Amino acid sequence: MSLFITFEGPDGSGKSTQIGLVAEYLQQGGYQVYCTREPGGTAIGNQIRAVLHDVDNTAMTSRAEILLYSASRAQLVEQIILPHLAAGHIVLCDRYADSTYAYQGYGRQLDFDTLQAITGFATQNLKPDLTIYLDLEVEKGLQRKVAANTAGQGEWNRMDQLELEFHQRVRQGYLEMARTEPERWLVVDATASVADINRTICRRVEEKINRSNA
Ligand code: TYD
Repeated sequence: MSLFITFEGPDGSGKSTQIGLVAEYLQQGGYQVYCTREPGGTAIGNQIRAVLHDVDNTAMTSRAEILLYSASRAQLVEQIILPHLAAGHIVLCDRYADSTYAYQGYGRQLDFDTLQAITGFATQNLKPDLTIYLDLEVEKGLQRKVAANTAGQGEWNRMDQLELEFHQRVRQGYLEMARTEPERWLVVDATASVADINRTICRRVEEKINRSNA
């Protein structure tokens, strides 16, 4: 049984902690799990990630930005995700195509049909079986990120420095996508305890596994 699970959420919502815990939980259940992230996840993708996150790249156009995220995604899907799914593994991915819809679509307000066409091409139309959205108020997310940075952890990227309204549009975009496709999305309150969030996610993952086996 293969399963493709993606994790979305604003910067500072605790995605990576939860991915680690879900991976541990599934491995204990005897599943083969592969964790990856976007942008990046491959040697080529990591080079693209460095270009995307460079705070000095202020001249980057929106079109170039979409194509770079999509190029990293195309490489990751073909080189890593599809082969793991074909081998019957569970793939957990930190961000995926919904980040493009949220940040470039709702955030930058670019044309959705264009984004969908580019994304379909880049992903070979691979869609997640389940998407976990860790929901956090924008101000809280940025506060967490600033605190982590002051403590010398995490990185401050080009998207982080965009204005508050941009991040608010991104959040509303995620919530709207989750509302329109509730069978694929699970929205979790990111201010709950790490253990509670983990329990909620694992319960939904179990449901998905049981339904795929049925
Ligand atoms: P990253 O350093 O991975 O941090 P985190 O996932 O913890 O936020 O940053 C990825 C950034 O790239 C994030 O600000 C969202 C943005 N992004 C897009 O704008 N579009 C995309 O398609 C993807 C995958 C990410």
